[in-house]
Amino acid sequence: MPTVQLIYASSVSKGLTVMEIKELVNEAQRDNVGFGITGFLCANSQYFLQCIEGESRAVNVLFQKISKDVRHHSVAIIKYSEIEVIQFSDWSMGAVLDIDKHMDVVTQFSPDGVFNPYLLSGDDNLNFILAFSQIRRG
Ligand SMILES: Cc1cc2nc3c(=O)[nH]c(=O)nc-3n(C[C@H](O)[C@H](O)[C@H](O)COP(=O)(O)O)c2cc1C
Repeated sequence: MPTVQLIYASSVSKGLTVMEIKELVNEAQRDNVGFGITGFLCANSQYFLQCIEGESRAVNVLFQKISKDVRHHSVAIIKYSEIEVIQFSDWSMGAVLDIDKHMDVVTQFSPDGVFNPYLLSGDDNLNFILAFSQIRRG
């Protein structure tokens, strides 16, 4: 069974609070351990950008669930690749939920300072997530 990495973008559903997003991340962190999933989630009040990695079957099953979740909409796969090396092995699901507070990173990818994952290439989205994972790592 190959190891895969899936990156998708989505739009935060209207009315979803920061507290509810934090609860979602806690659930994801807990559940991913059991399925051998690792990854990273970037968010602001408008968008989610998430990378999930693991055994292909586990990633595909999880993505089916995620794509039906009413807490977001307009889910678009940005990148799906077989990988040799897990990139986010430090986290069952790392997260930065206030990406707009890090304008230095946002403007590296979106010079106008407005983050919109649907407009970035797959590689830029991956590099965006990697940059935030470095911040989280400290
Ligand atoms: C933006 C977003 C990211 C999510 N990430 C994960 C995740 O990494 N792992 C996970 O188990 N569920 C995640 N979920 C929640 C799933 O959609 C789903 O609610 C959860 O897997 C429980 O599904 P179940 O009750 O059918 O088992 C995420 C949901 C959203 C909206």
